[in-house]
Amino acid sequence: MKETIDALRESFRRELEQARDSEAAEKLRVAYLGKKGSVTGLLKGLKDVAADQKKAMGQAINQLKKEVEEGIAAQVEKIHAAEEEALVAAAEQYDVSLPTGESEGSYHPITLVQRELEEIFASMGFTIEDYKEIVTDYECFEAVNIPKDHPARDMQDTYYLSNGQLLKTHTSAAQNAILRKYGAPLRAIFPGRCFRNEATDACHENTFFQMEGIMVDKNISIANLIYFMKTMLSQVFQRDINVRLRPGFFPFVEPGFEMDISCLICGGEGCPSCKNSGWLELCPCGMIHPNVLKAGGVDPEEYTGFAFGLGLTRLVMMKYGVKDIRDLNSGNLKALSQFKHE
Ligand code: PHE
Repeated sequence: MKETIDALRESFRRELEQARDSEAAEKLRVAYLGKKGSVTGLLKGLKDVAADQKKAMGQAINQLKKEVEEGIAAQVEKIHAAEEEALVAAAEQYDVSLPTGESEGSYHPITLVQRELEEIFASMGFTIEDYKEIVTDYECFEAVNIPKDHPARDMQDTYYLSNGQLLKTHTSAAQNAILRKYGAPLRAIFPGRCFRNEATDACHENTFFQMEGIMVDKNISIANLIYFMKTMLSQVFQRDINVRLRPGFFPFVEPGFEMDISCLICGGEGCPSCKNSGWLELCPCGMIHPNVLKAGGVDPEEYTGFAFGLGLTRLVMMKYGVKDIRDLNSGNLKALSQFKHE
């Protein structure tokens, strides 16, 4: 038996040297140490060895087993190192300094402006709220003082779902939930995507973004509203811009206004983006109607507040000089990837 052990050791050494890849190493392991492997066979045969030799033989076989295990482990390590080296050598055939043609990702301009506005309003003590895109008729209309059959509903041609819910036509749909969530006093902005069944042209889209803001406290007045809007706009445009207030009707504000800014594309001369008027309707606003406060659980005798519904999409067009609103939903990376963080 001693000779068999020595012969096995000899053949193992030879074969080990030949094993040049992981597969060969594994085959070798099975051949020697597997269930039907030769070393395993020797151990099995130990029961037939004469009693006085059993101990010595056992030790010798176990010694061989150990050598086989260690030999294979060392060889596997060598193989892995060689494989890695081969990979690196292959990789070196590429010139790492060559341009790849891959371009850096970029944020959508609406995201950029939204974040900028969030920062400005956060610095003025406003919280930023997220809200649903599918809402109830109550949230979108009734809670903001637009009862069923009110003609103001015609201003917002709505996409209704078969379950009676609808795609929110304005961010005002979140007012009620936010008033209820925080009560008074409160300052919050809530950006969101809105949907209206509109014919599209250079300044109308059926899908667009607004950013609503409300502030409720004791003695809030139109002066506060004008202050916050002016502060925000001058920061966004980094310069003084012309604004004008016109009376505007929205059932959820009283009094209500339209805040316009001079068209930055044509400088006020008139172009398709401003329907040749020189002004762009940017931001309807007003003092929150007492009915809206009541519906939100706030006592209108004690608190007043302002609300504005900033046309975020429109603001983006102004800020970056986007002439056609449809570019913004186009998925055209050539157009949309030009906007970077400032
Ligand atoms: N929700 C109105 C709209 O989309 C805008 C608005 C908001 C007006 C807040 C006044 C106050 O038309």
